[in-house]
Amino acid sequence: MSSITSGERLILASEHKEKANIESVDATSFHWNDEFDQWRARLQGKWNAAYECIDRHVDEGRGDRVAMIYVNDDIHEEITYRQLKNETDRFAVVIKAKGIKRGERVFTLLPKTPNAYITVLAIIKAGAVAGPLFEAFQEDAIFERMYNCDAKMIITDAQLKSRVPSNKLPALEHVLIDGEGADKEAGEYHLQEELESVSKESAAQVTEWVDENEGMIIHYTSGSTGQPKGVLHSHRAIVQQKKTGEWVLDLKENDVYWCTSHPGWVTGSSYGIFAPFLNGATSLINTGRFDANEWYSYIERFNVTVWYSAPTAFRMLKAAGGQELIERYNLSSLRHVLSVGEPLNPEIVKWGYEQLNVRIHDTWWMTETGAQLIVNLPNQTIKAGSMGRPLPGITVAILDESGNQLPRGLVGQLAVRKGWPSMMREIWKNEEKYRSYFPYDGEWYVSGDLAYQDEEGFVFFQSRNDDMINSSGERIGPFEVESALITHDAVIEAAVVGKADELRGEIVKGFVVLHPDYEESPALLEEIRLHVRGKLAAHAAPREIEVLKELPKTRISGKIMRRLLKEQA
Ligand code: WT7
Repeated sequence: MSSITSGERLILASEHKEKANIESVDATSFHWNDEFDQWRARLQGKWNAAYECIDRHVDEGRGDRVAMIYVNDDIHEEITYRQLKNETDRFAVVIKAKGIKRGERVFTLLPKTPNAYITVLAIIKAGAVAGPLFEAFQEDAIFERMYNCDAKMIITDAQLKSRVPSNKLPALEHVLIDGEGADKEAGEYHLQEELESVSKESAAQVTEWVDENEGMIIHYTSGSTGQPKGVLHSHRAIVQQKKTGEWVLDLKENDVYWCTSHPGWVTGSSYGIFAPFLNGATSLINTGRFDANEWYSYIERFNVTVWYSAPTAFRMLKAAGGQELIERYNLSSLRHVLSVGEPLNPEIVKWGYEQLNVRIHDTWWMTETGAQLIVNLPNQTIKAGSMGRPLPGITVAILDESGNQLPRGLVGQLAVRKGWPSMMREIWKNEEKYRSYFPYDGEWYVSGDLAYQDEEGFVFFQSRNDDMINSSGERIGPFEVESALITHDAVIEAAVVGKADELRGEIVKGFVVLHPDYEESPALLEEIRLHVRGKLAAHAAPREIEVLKELPKTRISGKIMRRLLKEQA
């Protein structure tokens, strides 16, 4: 592999181990409408994402391919596309038999096991809208989402069911329990028993053909303020999910793909369910929390080739140990590694390159966008610190507060021109919120992120709109300061916020988690401060640094909760 450093920036030329899928495509002349038209011509009005994910492979002779490898301690199970078809067919029959109609919402609350995937796909096959919940959600979060959605049914298990407040959910008609522990007197059903009663004939006819714009899946996303919003995606999203699986994930026939996210959040559905299955890939499904040794051992044991994870996970792997840890495992199967969810620090790209011997490809998108929009393609150069460039067919702009396009190099609102297939269909029961994403004549989708684009089109994330710091009139993006903080050996993780200050408006305040080999002292903190000052600028160096045992993070996505830290500051 070749790398150069331009100024402080690490630049990694592409040197993939196999020819990348995208190389055969003329990306400059690509239009999503043409792609869409091909799907429309092929499907002739008979859309169903679950059919495209599963049954199509069986119908076209790929039924014996392994769809899922499930690993959980000593359990190791393989499920083929044919088995996946049979399972989702039967499940879909049960869902329909309980009276669930097209477009009605069915939720799932399950740990990351094959049934978390099978249930979501079965709901979609039956024409209903799937509402997958993350397994760590507690009662209030579950209530809010199911109530807002008028959920009619939930599939959960004996361990998690106590968090579902059935008596407070008037629309809820059915509770199905996966595995043992259904309380039949309370009206719960035992899922496996229901499945046994399904006839072959009914299963053969079960796929509900829908229109491309009908609801498929709903994910709730919490903005920095207010109630979580229900982001509804429709079946047409698969057009883009399939293509980005091919181009960005670079999925090929014999790949073993591992997406570390849970299907209860959008990375775990768009790129944990749809993209890999649409492309006929084999997915590794792991249960349980993060553990560095276990994670490395999965890569070795299952020969993972394509790996999609998040900066938090990479930072934790880095903190868990250097070469001596990594050398215990054979990670040579890894061909393509990707990241999403929060800014990917240049230091982590460097670590990946030097220690794991891979380029980590950052990708940018949102729950609302349904699929990747800004990406690092496998056959293109990576600039560490940039999220990459717009996907073929996608137009990005940096707008000022009046919606005018800013020249290259200036920081402003990151916006995307409307018209990509996987764009959300609606915000559930909140038309006004939906419209608020299109403040300027409806042409631009405004993301709420601040960024700039360089001359070559690379997009550099600065912060969420609300997180930008203004100190003595200077705008300081927390991400850049955080990235500088973690280049100091003592710092494992960092979060930077603005702290109110009479003189300067705000000052930069840093929260850090120290490496266990280092002990907190005023001298160390001053050293870290000067380290950042030397890397960035005096005004960007944190005036205050506070040491925390860990950073507060959202349970779902592992995003640093800067708002909480800001209150604390
Ligand atoms: C927000 C969306 C959709 C996948 C996961 C997040 C931040 C996402 C990146 C990235 C910097 C990123 C943005 C975005 N974000 N990817 N590569 N670099 N920031 O989904 O929960 O809807 O959050 O996550 O702020 O707006 P989400």
